[in-house]
Amino acid sequence: MGLLQGKVAIVTGGSLGIGAGIVHRLAAEGAAVALDFHTHRDAADAIANAITGAGGRALVVQADVSLPADTQRLVSATVNAFGRLDILVNNAGIEQPTPFANVTEDQWDRQIAVDLKGPFFATQAAFRQFVAQGGGGCVINISSVHEELPMVGNSVYCAAKGGLRMLARTLANELAANNVRIVNVGPGAIATPINATTLADPAKTQALLAEIPLRRIGQPTDIANAVVWLASDQASYITGTTLFVDGGLMIYAGSL
Ligand SMILES: NC(=O)c1ccc[n+]([C@@H]2O[C@H](COP(=O)([O-])OP(=O)(O)OC[C@H]3O[C@@H](n4cnc5c(N)ncnc54)[C@H](O)[C@@H]3O)[C@@H](O)[C@H]2O)c1
Repeated sequence: MGLLQGKVAIVTGGSLGIGAGIVHRLAAEGAAVALDFHTHRDAADAIANAITGAGGRALVVQADVSLPADTQRLVSATVNAFGRLDILVNNAGIEQPTPFANVTEDQWDRQIAVDLKGPFFATQAAFRQFVAQGGGGCVINISSVHEELPMVGNSVYCAAKGGLRMLARTLANELAANNVRIVNVGPGAIATPINATTLADPAKTQALLAEIPLRRIGQPTDIANAVVWLASDQASYITGTTLFVDGGLMIYAGSL
C-alpha cells in the first residue's frame, strides 16, 4: 500500500517541472491529486490521463494562484470531486532575475503575487477546509535555497521566498492546535523550464556544478520524493522547518 493511500492532495503549478514530478509521485503513493495549471492545459490533461490510466485518481483545474478567488475555487473543486483535502503543495512560482535598480513595480507585484500572496491565500483556503472536516492536514511550500541564501540580481524572488520561510514558521505555530503542519522544501538547482536558460549554457552549468558538493543538477523526482515523505504520516512530528534538497549547495564550503 502506498504511503499516501486514501489521502487527497492539491498541487499548484502541477503541469510542468517540479510540480509535475510531485503530482506523479503523490499519485503513485495512492493519493487522489488535483492538479492545478495556469497556462498549460494539454500538459495537465496528459498527466491526469496517465494517472487515471494507471488506476489512480486525478482532477485538472485551471487556477491562477495569485488570485485568492481562484485558489478557493481550486479547493472547492477538489473537495467536490474527492470529498476532502489532506495535503496542499504550494509549488507554482515564477522567477524574473533583474538587477535591483531595474526592477519595475509590475515585476515586484507579479512575483510577490505568485510566489508569496498565492501560497498565503491557498493555505488559508486549505486551512478552512481542514478545520471544517476535522483531523488536521499538511501544507508543503516549494520554497528555494533562496529563502535563506542571498542571490544578487534576484532580490524580488529572494524576498518572496524569504517571506515563505517566515510564513511557514509562523503558521506552524498558529495552526498546530488544529493538527495542521506546514513544511517548506527548498530545492537547489533542479532541471526544469524555470532555469532552462542557465542549463543550456555549458559554462554557467559548470560554474553551478562546481558549487554543488554532490556534483549534479537535481531532478523533479528528487523534490517529489521529499514531498511524499513530508506529506505522509511518517513525518507527523515535522512542522515549521525547511528541508533543503540541493545536493549540498546550501553548505558549499569550497573544494580541496
Ligand atoms: N527549478 C529550480 O531549480 C528551482 C529551484 C528552487 C526553487 N524552485 C521552485 O520550485 C517551484 C517550481 O518551479 P519549477 O522549476 O518547476 O518551474 P517551472 O517554471 O517549470 O514551473 C512553474 C509552474 O508554476 C506555474 N505557474 C506560474 N505562474 C502561475 C500562476 N500564476 N498560477 C498557477 N500556476 C502558475 C507554471 O505554469 C508552471 O507549471 C517554484 O516555486 C520555484 O520557485 C525551483
